[in-house]
Amino acid sequence: MPQTYTADADPRRVAESLTREQKARLVTGETFWETADVPEAGIPRITMTDGPHGLRKQGADGGDHLGLAQSVAATCFPPAVGLGSSFDPELTQRVGAAIAEEARAEGVSLLLGPGMNIKRSPLCGRNFEYFSEDPLVSGTMAAAMVTGIQSRGVGACVKHFAANNQETDRMRVSADIDERPLREIYLRGFEQAITGAQPDAVMCAYNRINGTYAAEDRWLLTEVLREQWGFEGMVVSDWFAVGDRVASLKAGLDLEMPTTDGRSSAQVLAALEEGSLEEADLDAAVINVLRLVQRRHLQASDSSAPDFDEHHDLAEEAALRSAVLLKNDGDLLPLSRTAKVALIGEFASIPRYQGAGSSHINPTRLDSAREALAALAEGELRFAPGFPLEEPAAEAARQEAEQLREEAVQAAAVSEVAVLFLGLPDVEESEGFDREHMDLPRVQLDLLEAVVRANPNTVVVLSNGGAVLLPFRDRVPAILEAWLLGQAGGSALADLLYGLESPSGRLTETIPLRLQDVPSWDSFPGEHGHVRYGEGVFVGYRGYDHRQTEVAYPFGHGLTYTSFEYSGLEAAVAGETLEVRLRVRNVGGRDGLEVVQVYAGREQSAVSRAPRELVGFVPVEVRAGELAEVSVEVPLNRLSHWDVRQGRWVIEPGQWLLRAGASSRDVRLSATVEVEGDHAEPPLTQRSTLGDALVHPAVGQEVRRIVQDAVAGQEGAFSAEGMLRMLESFPLGRLSLFPGAGLDEEQVENLIRRSS
Ligand code: GLC
Repeated sequence: MPQTYTADADPRRVAESLTREQKARLVTGETFWETADVPEAGIPRITMTDGPHGLRKQGADGGDHLGLAQSVAATCFPPAVGLGSSFDPELTQRVGAAIAEEARAEGVSLLLGPGMNIKRSPLCGRNFEYFSEDPLVSGTMAAAMVTGIQSRGVGACVKHFAANNQETDRMRVSADIDERPLREIYLRGFEQAITGAQPDAVMCAYNRINGTYAAEDRWLLTEVLREQWGFEGMVVSDWFAVGDRVASLKAGLDLEMPTTDGRSSAQVLAALEEGSLEEADLDAAVINVLRLVQRRHLQASDSSAPDFDEHHDLAEEAALRSAVLLKNDGDLLPLSRTAKVALIGEFASIPRYQGAGSSHINPTRLDSAREALAALAEGELRFAPGFPLEEPAAEAARQEAEQLREEAVQAAAVSEVAVLFLGLPDVEESEGFDREHMDLPRVQLDLLEAVVRANPNTVVVLSNGGAVLLPFRDRVPAILEAWLLGQAGGSALADLLYGLESPSGRLTETIPLRLQDVPSWDSFPGEHGHVRYGEGVFVGYRGYDHRQTEVAYPFGHGLTYTSFEYSGLEAAVAGETLEVRLRVRNVGGRDGLEVVQVYAGREQSAVSRAPRELVGFVPVEVRAGELAEVSVEVPLNRLSHWDVRQGRWVIEPGQWLLRAGASSRDVRLSATVEVEGDHAEPPLTQRSTLGDALVHPAVGQEVRRIVQDAVAGQEGAFSAEGMLRMLESFPLGRLSLFPGAGLDEEQVENLIRRSS
């Protein structure tokens, strides 16, 4: 009789007591959203579902992974594109906890989120579901979301591991990435979230990485994830991501989702029978699935009814923190409540508040900016739809668009200020496909031109999941990038526009001047099953800064209704931490929140690197006129790069340049700091070059002296330094053949021996 499963039984012992058939059942879903149960062993099912910015729970008997079928009502929080802009892990943690409360109440044990892939291109259809172009922002916010979700007894599942940075051909495309950008950009956020917050699960991606499907990549799912990062949870596939169940089991993919109606179990049993699959590999997966079931199987008594009003208030707080004020010339914002306002744009009435696909939430309620503004307005508020949500095609539609535009222009002409709600209609961006351009619909741009001509005091409010180009940014005084703000976004926007609250969001992705300026432009989205990440580590602001490319609005940018002055930057190494201290004074007339950002860079480096990289950030509330002491703790490992020769992280020793500022290009203070770093260099060999020897900590100075003395005594056009530079690429093993280099074979052998 198999050992009876209990929540605290040893999963290894339970696995040993199961038959092969029972084990084979446990490693593939039983339904679309549930794991398999083994009643005769007392093993229950558990339910998992999306995520990530709210609960999307469908009926057990059906469901889809594309947000098509209905789901239970749940609070729709701002998707990651918005929440990430808060740069606030504490707020993100509270959102995670609230979503988990709703999940528990619906008997959901594992929430499939956060999504945390890097925004390599603004064209990715799922960027709304991800946090940033920067791995530190992604990792920090994802870790906070995981902590929040799991604090309420529900498992979290970071996704999509890894390098799922586009929707085009997503179930086959190979992301061809060199080792440094793979480690430093595409894995680094996952490493931070997994080692820092220990999510119960990791969802492997659909795509290939350097030719190997993530679902079958033992290097990724076992060597990196488990052996190097110490992950002890469960690896679950993306839905329908498994092409070869036996290969994926060998790679370390524990649970295939959704059900394959017994097909995968049969393949597993046949492979065991013929010896092409070790039972130990199956057992390892069973144990990881059992551990999750034991940890997260909800007892009926577990779920108390969530407070949906409280969650809606939290959704509004999160929305307030998500909007990014890009410009505000002449302090046009905030609006006076007595102002005569023309409110233009269908999105003010019918908000665009979340993305399409598997993350689509059925909100408990939905606030419209139009109603919220009307409730606050003390002056005249005229509404005009302004444009049709679909691009006009036929003549009749064109006439309708023309009429809507005229109506909007008339409203603008008789008002003190026009507030223009523009953005990307649902059909323009979604999970499952990428955009081909970054433009707002033509009909909206035409409307904007007409409205601005009628009333230059025009505020543009944007609702979009992926960054859009802003060719009009010099023709309007104010732009509020509202991204997608969830169900309470309408109320939040009204509070921000009338100044009851101040904007505080910051860009977690660069807004370029042109699509062609995007570092990934010439390789996205690839062809014939391959996409070459040719920009390497130069993703997002790293690329724009490295190329000194002008941008519309830089990473980290965001205004508020006050202003801040920075002073007194100090930095010192204390153990494994770089302690950065400075002061921020609110020199405006309103309380405000500043996101202080710290970037690090080097004048000289052994590797190619961006001029500056974000190494720390902290949101700071400062009352009008007051001074805040700010401390940013930077773990020294954030200075490290991946040394492909040694296969590990290395911190370059010497001087580092720190910059503190309000964005990646609004640097307010700089300081230098000496870092002991990591002097280790790989041992020299006959194939090493003289250049390798010159920088090797064990022998570098001696080699430099020997060769300089040798070449100094020679006649010739080159200076000693010039000769050295010429010889740097010379292999040590052949240096003795070069006349006058000063090193014979025995000396070279001696240097090699001493270098290891
Ligand atoms: C989807 C998504 C994934 C989601 C899963 C279940 O295809 O890629 O993020 O969690 O399937 O809906």
